[in-house]
Amino acid sequence: MSSQKTWGGRFSEAPNELAREYNASLNFDRRLALVDIRGSLAHVRMLGARGILPEKEAEIIENGLLQVQGELEAGTFPFREEYEDIHMNVEARLTEIVGPVGGKLHTGRSRNDQVATDLRLWCLEELVRLKALLGDYRRILLDEADKALERGLILPGYTHLQRAMPVMLAHWFLAWQEMASRDEARVQDAMKRVGECPLGAAALAGTGFPIDRHQTARELGFSNPMRNSLDAVASRDFVQEVLSVLQIIQTHLSRLSEELILYSSFEFGFVTISDAFATGSSIMPQKKNPDIPELIRAKAGRVLGSLTTISSVLKSLPLAYNKDLQEDKEPLFDAMDTVQSSLRLTAALLPGLTWHKKPMLKAAKSGFSLATELADWLACKGLPFREAHHVVGAIVKYCVQEECELSDLSLETFKKFHALFTEDALRLTSLETAIYQRVSYGGTAPEAVKKAMNEVRSTLNSK
Ligand code: ARG
Repeated sequence: MSSQKTWGGRFSEAPNELAREYNASLNFDRRLALVDIRGSLAHVRMLGARGILPEKEAEIIENGLLQVQGELEAGTFPFREEYEDIHMNVEARLTEIVGPVGGKLHTGRSRNDQVATDLRLWCLEELVRLKALLGDYRRILLDEADKALERGLILPGYTHLQRAMPVMLAHWFLAWQEMASRDEARVQDAMKRVGECPLGAAALAGTGFPIDRHQTARELGFSNPMRNSLDAVASRDFVQEVLSVLQIIQTHLSRLSEELILYSSFEFGFVTISDAFATGSSIMPQKKNPDIPELIRAKAGRVLGSLTTISSVLKSLPLAYNKDLQEDKEPLFDAMDTVQSSLRLTAALLPGLTWHKKPMLKAAKSGFSLATELADWLACKGLPFREAHHVVGAIVKYCVQEECELSDLSLETFKKFHALFTEDALRLTSLETAIYQRVSYGGTAPEAVKKAMNEVRSTLNSK
């Protein structure tokens, strides 16, 4: 085919076939088809309203666009590779339908402001979906916290992956909920900056046609037209920002997955992942592998790769539009799909987990996770905390030598380490006492957890 078909008079030679393929984006930007139509509809209505095109012609183009939209929705739209991207495909099809007047759609517009508008519209639609998924996920975490509290499930809390202090499993669920709630707020906040309209910036400098950028911005649901035409076509920090938000979400899902992988191992034995989300081994009959959490964990690397891609593309890129910017779409699309499916899967997997009360409790009780209780107790009796820490450290060392737990020691033994010890202190080596004491705001005592749960629930309900 002749290049003149797409590029007009200046070109006399057909493009090199490899160059044509390399240059093309239709393969991936066809995902923008429907938002591209929305942008064009707003543009042509404005052209008609402002008298830039005769009303009659604007109407013909509008109807043609609606017909193209119908074809896209019905799956009958003829995508053609000889047009390099979705924008030229839509325009070519429109012109086929309405005749040469279709060529007037592009009055006062460039593909530079067009593609930036499309991509922002696409992001806004997907961010709404993402926000809803985060909401579902948060509700599930809350429900699971509820169930865990009801069963009084306790597990060791870890630092350095060493048993540190016992915590309520409900508290653990609520920790993930907090992360998800900040993720949701980040999505909401990003929408503010994504929600500004580049349309009308034209190629880079605006246009002499008496367009109304406020009208198109309003019609497309943007808060306002972007103030600077160079910025409008050259900037992709909104893609970077959306990818950053996505990357943080996937990092959270990855960390949760990592814990499920650990906790479902024989070594921990705290939880069983339901068969529906695990797979067997082709050779070892005893195996049940946590494939889904493992993939969610790995995909955090993939999403970070997407963020790295766009950040590297943008670094050192001169104003305004450069073809480099075409490379913004694939990482964005891929990361959005990845995070949305990871969220769906995590939400689906959580209610099917079976938590094993006994091994969790056993682990929470052993490993000296109550040593801090004893040190706090001594401190309350007036011993400087540093000293108390030292005394209890010596007791733990003794237990390790004797291969016993703190709760196995008699009062006489305790007294050998410090005269302040009384029967009262011994009570503290019980798990329940330890947990019930952590009533500080945000702490793990069931009472505090219940308060936190009610707080979260009221924010979720008020939406
Ligand atoms: N396919 C291009 C992209 O995705 C559309 C914009 C083309 N503009 C241009 N001046 N070549 O960025």
